[in-house]
Amino acid sequence: MTPQKRILSGMRSTGAKLHLGNYEGALRNWVKLQSDYKVFAMVADWHALTTQFDDPSKIGQNSREVAKDFVAAGIDPEKSPVFVQSHVKEHAELHLLLSMVTPLGWLERVPTYKEKQQDLGGAEREPYGLLGYPVLQSADILMYKPYGVPVGKDQAPHLEISREIARRFNHLYGDVFPEFASMIGEVAVLPGIDMRKMSKSYDNCVYINETPEETAKKIKGAFTTPSKIKMTDPGVPEGCAVCQYLKVYSPDWKTQWEEDREGLRGCSKNKNECIEAVNEFLRPIRERRAQLDDATIEEILKKGADEAREVAQQTMQEVRQAMGLW
Ligand code: TRP
Repeated sequence: MTPQKRILSGMRSTGAKLHLGNYEGALRNWVKLQSDYKVFAMVADWHALTTQFDDPSKIGQNSREVAKDFVAAGIDPEKSPVFVQSHVKEHAELHLLLSMVTPLGWLERVPTYKEKQQDLGGAEREPYGLLGYPVLQSADILMYKPYGVPVGKDQAPHLEISREIARRFNHLYGDVFPEFASMIGEVAVLPGIDMRKMSKSYDNCVYINETPEETAKKIKGAFTTPSKIKMTDPGVPEGCAVCQYLKVYSPDWKTQWEEDREGLRGCSKNKNECIEAVNEFLRPIRERRAQLDDATIEEILKKGADEAREVAQQTMQEVRQAMGLW
């Protein structure tokens, strides 16, 4: 049997709960990829530190909670290593070595870096680790010599840098890192209940791990077509959060959209059917989530880290050898 091609992806543990936007933008795809690849699903706790260095005390528990959501969403820990970045120390070593071959200019040009730099209030307050964010991410990726890296569009610049760093390393020291494919999700971006980007900082998320009642309350208050007051007013499903969710979670969405557009149904009917569809979709995920206590996830994460470390140690041997360090 030929070894399965690998996929690596990660998510930062900046919060304890994943939302439907995380699911649609990443997890749905990772779960699907498991049938053809060995999926390495990483919780990036060191990356969480780049913006939460002033209060890291929650990152540990957040990592466990995020990993629980991975598994509940359908990442099968029997097949796919689920692990925490900081449990595989080799990532730190590779990060350091890659930092030596990465030109500063490449990092300063990354758009996400410029945004975050401004948020943090300029160079005097900005941590060195923030600039190195894409180098650490490159270490995460290159360590596993993956066939591909599935991510959302926002990560495209990071993957581009990872590819450049790999080329430069190979050019300097010999071929260690094969090219990998960017699997930039063509998934529809699921908006928040207010139609802005779903983000916990906007308080507009439907979380995987919340009660059906909480989900219902949020969808009841969701943004619809502002000019649709009476049932007979025409709706604009493209601009309505409830219709956007129906499109993803309701098998009958085409009829629901048509009726909305033609003024044949009101927003409250739409909302009720949407609540039903979203809660039905999340039901098995929530049931699995409820089974996962800290001890269970810790065991899964230990096994995942052991498996990841095996690959990482092999890669690091090749890296040290290529550089003549050992
Ligand atoms: N930067 C990614 C994000 O914010 C998280 C991440 C860290 C990652 N390391 C990775 C994604 C390696 C893919 C591969 O979403």
